[in-house]
Amino acid sequence: MKGILLAGGSGTRLAPMTRVVSKQLLPVYDKPLIYYPLSTLLLAGIRDILLIATPQDLPRFEALLGDGSAWGISLRYVAQPAPEGLAQAFVLGRDFLGRDPVTLILGDNLFFGAGLEQQLRAGRERVATAGGATIFGYRVSNPERYGVADVAPDGTVRSIEEKPKAPKSALAVTGLYCYDNRVVDIAAGLKKSARGEYEITDVNTAYLREGTLRLERLDRGMAWLDTGTVTAMQEAARFVEAIEMRQGLKIGCPEEVAFRMGFISREQLVALAAPLASSEYGDYLRRVAAEPA
Ligand code: TTP
Repeated sequence: MKGILLAGGSGTRLAPMTRVVSKQLLPVYDKPLIYYPLSTLLLAGIRDILLIATPQDLPRFEALLGDGSAWGISLRYVAQPAPEGLAQAFVLGRDFLGRDPVTLILGDNLFFGAGLEQQLRAGRERVATAGGATIFGYRVSNPERYGVADVAPDGTVRSIEEKPKAPKSALAVTGLYCYDNRVVDIAAGLKKSARGEYEITDVNTAYLREGTLRLERLDRGMAWLDTGTVTAMQEAARFVEAIEMRQGLKIGCPEEVAFRMGFISREQLVALAAPLASSEYGDYLRRVAAEPA
């Protein structure tokens, strides 16, 4: 299973902050936004990752994250020349994916909670062994602003409606998706929607029609936050601050996840902390490295 981290887009709702800095490089409390979805991929055990961003922002991501080897992963980069929709990720990622299945995560989505790792693995393994697609749903108070799924008791998706006026459920489709390799051809065959984008919903509809689209429900003990607006960004930052202050553990720290997943050694984690010596983040990495085994 390979991973795609989709971090392009225009970020128009966050202007002027996004005029010269990509949304996914802006801070959410104590780290760049992109660290959160990247950590989620690592938690799912995905180590071969393609990051897609705008041509102007791509060098900044490369400067921040490098080739991934320091974190025991492989990171590659491709530019999306124009923000023509989420489904374009698979066409841009065709060479990278080869014949492998893929997990796509949006660069501005933050997931947190007990059981996330198991649910990610379940979705990922089902797609890798049985094929089809798995999406992740989360109950929200305002489903009319999202893609909304209607799901059969066995987890098969019956319908997805984009921003429905009368939602059939409160289950929003999150920015995390697992697909078998056919997604590349499905995406390549799409036409642009009325708003001029290759829509991820159209990809999901293709799987839905053949009855192979399943939904993993992220339950109420989990947090799914997006960061598209200033308010959402601030809410996410407050959430991260509250949990981190209370527990003394970080959310979305890729170095820590890489260490706990066994991608890097204790010595490698200490080495990663060294250049961050004067930041609280660096202190944290050193503390994690010093924990008894
Ligand atoms: P959106 O939040 O839908 O769009 P945006 O980031 O361009 O922001 P705005 O609506 O404020 O202009 O995008 C969701 C995620 O997908 C986000 O991480 C950006 C990314 N994205 C791409 O990488 N390429 C695209 O073509 C689109 C539409 C989004």
